[in-house]
Amino acid sequence: MNSSILSVGAYVPPQIMTNQELPASLDTSDEWIRTRTGIEQRHVAGPEETTASVSIKASERALKAMALDPRELDWIMLCTDTPEMWSPATACFVQDALGAQYASAIDLTGGCAGFLQTLQIADKMAQAGETVLVIGTEVLTKSLDWTDRSTAVLFGDGSGAVVVGPSNEGIRIVHAKSQSDGSQADILGKPYGGTRNPITPELVADGHLHTIHMEGQKVFKRAVQDMGSMALQVMQDAQINAQDIDWVIPHQANQRIIDAVAHHAGIVKERVFSHVAKYANTGSASIVIALADMIRNGLVKPGQNLLTVAFGSGFSWGSQLWKVNQVPPAIFE
Ligand code: ACO
Repeated sequence: MNSSILSVGAYVPPQIMTNQELPASLDTSDEWIRTRTGIEQRHVAGPEETTASVSIKASERALKAMALDPRELDWIMLCTDTPEMWSPATACFVQDALGAQYASAIDLTGGCAGFLQTLQIADKMAQAGETVLVIGTEVLTKSLDWTDRSTAVLFGDGSGAVVVGPSNEGIRIVHAKSQSDGSQADILGKPYGGTRNPITPELVADGHLHTIHMEGQKVFKRAVQDMGSMALQVMQDAQINAQDIDWVIPHQANQRIIDAVAHHAGIVKERVFSHVAKYANTGSASIVIALADMIRNGLVKPGQNLLTVAFGSGFSWGSQLWKVNQVPPAIFE
């Protein structure tokens, strides 16, 4: 049995922070950020907004779009690197709020490639007959060191959700591939607060915050190399040429990375979707928010081949070929 994406929901917090409005604690400029990243603004969670609350909003939209009773869900799989709390899983808060009383709820952590990794698992479950709500969410602005200009300017908040089920009516997942290289785990992540480096008053006093640490240039190099190669591999496995790809939907990290990946994969710029200028890097949410934005703008049409590709901490990366049999209903206001 085939599995397909049957509906899409996305939510970004209403509050926008432009480059000019970045905190004065950051020694940066709009010009530097635009030139190096293409980012112009980001959506930022308000004080009351959390990973669960934004996930619930995106999930309600995905369910409403296809008028699905939440009791039909077998699984809720939520991918995030910024959970509501360490335990229990953020997906449990979503399950309760939706009234998905028969669903099993679980979190997965895969960095910016996490949504594609999670979707790859959900695809197999849907092929076996189950209906899965797959959510990618980050509230990254609450995990940033706002004095570190090399990370603080890059990220935004948001959530995207898709219902995946056993059907041909939607976007069919034709081929999916992902990979990890844990030898690079120290390059990008949040090293403090877990069992290796538990938070103690001494650590905090020493400036070791529970925030993102990153070696930007190393990430950049591997992101371009691994996303480009994985996209080529997926096209080769699926026996499809770059000219037959209607849209590439890349993880929205940085315009320079997006341009370099497209070049590496032999895809012309006009077929590569980007809205990184408006939303910045929303981690595991970025590909779903991009898909929702494309659908609401009428860019996704029946018969199209979509190639999606992502890279993030771990390192982990993945790519998928999607076939649009029918454009799934989407809500992204
Ligand atoms: N504003 C002004 N100056 C800055 C800023 C900033 N926000 N950040 C760094 N700089 C400075 C540096 O301190 C350095 O100054 P120096 O020359 O005096 O030492 C100078 O700019 C150049 O720094 P580089 O790190 O060489 O800048 P680079 O061109 O590599 O751009 C960037 C940095 C944008 C982080 C880039 O490396 C990058 O995009 N890396 C990928 C990071 C990423 O996308 N991570 C997200 C998670 S993973 C993913 O989603 C793929």
